Amino acid sequence: MEKKSGNQELNPFQYRHPLLLLFCVLLFCLYPLNGELADPIGHGYRVISAGIDPSAGNSFVVDLKLINQSSVFGPDIERLTLTVSFETEDRLRIRITDAKHKRWEIPQEIIPRQNNTLDSNLAHHHSEQQGLVLSVPNSDLTFTLLNATPFGFTVSRRTSGDAIFDAYPNPSDPETFLVFKDQFIQLTSSLPGEKRASLYGLGEHTKKSFKLVPNETLTLWNADIASFNPDVNLYGSHPFYMDVRSASPDGKVKAGTTHGVLLLNSNGMDVTYDGDRVTYKVIGGVIDLYIFAGPTPNLVLEQYTELVGRPAPMPYWSFGFHQCRWGYRNVSDLKGVVAGYANAGIPLEVMWTDIDYMDAYKDFTLDPVNFPPTEMDKFLASLHQNGQKYVLILDPGISINSSYATYTRGMKADIFVKHNGSPYEGVVWPGPVYFPDFLNPATAEFWGNEIKMFREILPFDGIWLDMNEASNFNTTSPTPNQFSPFDDPPYKINDAGVRRPIENNTLPPTALHHGDVAEYNVHNMYGMLESKATNAALVSLTAKRPFILSRSTFVGSGKYTAHWTGDNAATWDDLAYSIPSILNSGLLGLPMVGADICGFARNTTEELCRRWIQLGAFYPFARDHSAIDTTRQELYLWDSVAATAKKVLGLRYQLLPHFYTLMYEAHTKGTPIARPLFFSFPQDIQTYDISSQFLLGDSIMVSPALKPGAISVDAYFPAGNWFDLFNFSNSVTAPEKGECINLPTPADHINVHVQEGSIVALQGEAMTTEKARETGFHLLVVVSESNQSHSFGQVFLDDGESVEMGGGEGERWSLVKFHARKVGDMVIVGSEIENGEFAMSKKWVVNKVTILGMDNSQKGMSLGGTKMEGGRKMKPSTVRTSVVNGNGKFVVFEISG
Ligand code: GLC
Repeated sequence: MEKKSGNQELNPFQYRHPLLLLFCVLLFCLYPLNGELADPIGHGYRVISAGIDPSAGNSFVVDLKLINQSSVFGPDIERLTLTVSFETEDRLRIRITDAKHKRWEIPQEIIPRQNNTLDSNLAHHHSEQQGLVLSVPNSDLTFTLLNATPFGFTVSRRTSGDAIFDAYPNPSDPETFLVFKDQFIQLTSSLPGEKRASLYGLGEHTKKSFKLVPNETLTLWNADIASFNPDVNLYGSHPFYMDVRSASPDGKVKAGTTHGVLLLNSNGMDVTYDGDRVTYKVIGGVIDLYIFAGPTPNLVLEQYTELVGRPAPMPYWSFGFHQCRWGYRNVSDLKGVVAGYANAGIPLEVMWTDIDYMDAYKDFTLDPVNFPPTEMDKFLASLHQNGQKYVLILDPGISINSSYATYTRGMKADIFVKHNGSPYEGVVWPGPVYFPDFLNPATAEFWGNEIKMFREILPFDGIWLDMNEASNFNTTSPTPNQFSPFDDPPYKINDAGVRRPIENNTLPPTALHHGDVAEYNVHNMYGMLESKATNAALVSLTAKRPFILSRSTFVGSGKYTAHWTGDNAATWDDLAYSIPSILNSGLLGLPMVGADICGFARNTTEELCRRWIQLGAFYPFARDHSAIDTTRQELYLWDSVAATAKKVLGLRYQLLPHFYTLMYEAHTKGTPIARPLFFSFPQDIQTYDISSQFLLGDSIMVSPALKPGAISVDAYFPAGNWFDLFNFSNSVTAPEKGECINLPTPADHINVHVQEGSIVALQGEAMTTEKARETGFHLLVVVSESNQSHSFGQVFLDDGESVEMGGGEGERWSLVKFHARKVGDMVIVGSEIENGEFAMSKKWVVNKVTILGMDNSQKGMSLGGTKMEGGRKMKPSTVRTSVVNGNGKFVVFEISG
């Protein structure tokens, strides 16, 4: 039954220190192959030996041997090595690879990861039923090497026994066996059913539901496919998911207990989810699995981004409103748009140009007729004078044209992706192009130099990286390379939903990066590598925090770039899809994200655009963008849209300190800016299915109108009091179990509520973020019904543009933490300041405090030792006026002096 391998079998015990070989596990009873399983994809592996390996940093190493060959999708690899390592108390790594041959895996330089290990503390015990159980002190994770053949393993929680990654082989189901072939790897984790496990992530796809719905195949292969196509692979690949558990029947697992799983692999893959299990079908690389213990959604993201890189801080200005369009005709068109916003009194922070500004779509050039350098220069100067910014697009493809200096420099530096010995020729907007090879460090230098020279002509403020999957319009397939298996892999991933050849619309799989690295292996990282090079170039050029917007992303991209959801369409469905897409991006470490407001493809309508700006005003990244062949959609073009834009962007600009503080949280802890409701209410299982609402931070909830003709919206409210941010007198109270409430949503209104228990620092409205930052702070203190409860909030302050956000030299930033509670007839508001000198030096003051949630027993407030009473002018003279609202629910204190 067992096929003899021609290779000499390695005895792992020969190369490990005998004293540290604490045990040896021989766990096998031969798997009974029966007729039904005569031709499965694989027969699994059995354990040959297992033990602690001092030469592998004391990690636990298991030697595996193939049980039986199967020819489906190519021959199996006979011998595998599995390495288990407790990297931190919250992070377990399981790596499985060919024991004898090196395979492609993501190099440390590409995604730098910490090399922690707690394995010197590894403890183990042997359980007759289960197998060998490994753990380290203070970790809730345990790894069990199962007493089974074929081999399997599980990762469980020590405290509850809940299996969180369960690769247990089910003898009657070969899909649960580990399969490891040269171009096909299969690994399955069984789940406790969709009622107990809610999964999120594995982007990028356009989905109706944020939570994964059973019976789907999530394909990860970066492609230039318009995001108005639901359920197919799009621009980014992130083999990471979050699993939020409902309570277990035995009560040991509490609702909301969350873990994360990353399969760090850059090859193309299908991930199938059927409600009862997740199966990875990967066409190369190795199994490099990381399990993050959580146990809360926030902690999972903190642990995930600790490994792959924290999200890049974004400049303060990038939280303003952006206007873009493919098809701006010339500089006067741009000026007209800027004037249109100013005349309508709608804030406009950033003006963008798409490929139209270029000369024949060549990067780093200006169209001499419509966007001549002198006029563009003047235009930028006037934007900058007004405190506004300018961002331009760059596509990776470099036009093949010997009279184009960028091209000749690129050829000289020899930095283009090669195929059969010469640069690979694709086709993008300029026609024939070569693609810079961002895996090659020399390319970063070339690219940085081009950016530098162009910025000397045009002092742009940020860069938009598009078409970087990389997109290629060349439909003629290059002659397949007969010596390479990459052109026609045996397993066809579901590219574009039709299992099309993976080379379609991109580079050939046999194209080579940095000498000998095949596109087949690194395809999914092209956009990430381009973002990394662009980020480094801008930092060294400007010594300021860069703003980069990239379409294509991979694990770790958030460290370099913001993201938008790509080519959506001006439809009501796309408006709704934007919420799951944005939430998904946040989970993948890309918190600065938005969708094209009013829709990119197809003609928008007044009503759709009005509803879209109402929602888009609360996207972390808010940009109106449209395609060349559509009707114009700048917000001032319709009176009703302009009026609504003023209202909602007015609130956005008041919330800028809050958005920026959330950026700080994202940068330091990985927490998304726009969050699913379960982040704040993990114990409330009704939040797990919500795809039409989201939170900004912990406590501000956005419940948009997503249907044409809507006059009301059904919104779910977790328990507690919620106050309408546009009109504090409107409040909603949800019972302990939470409640779905039907709220009016007239044409000009979106429901945005703040929950009791929070404190939000607001500033004044203005036409630019710079002007808004000059206004005094307005502290919104939302006290809880119960007198015992405290309210909290914080605000992060810095110059908005230093490369570092927080950290570094203390005096360049401040963090103010606010707290409040009801005591007798007063509401006591206090604060603690970290690095207060910086805030003082900027003369930022709180000149207004609004207390929401007061009841009749509270008469006043005490702020940092100063007492103020509602309804009366109080001593000391710092209190100028105080106003009590008619319904007695809130009090506004104005402070001067
Ligand atoms: C791509 C981008 C889109 C851009 C267009 C022209 O379709 O996704 O945003 O407008 O190219 O550059």
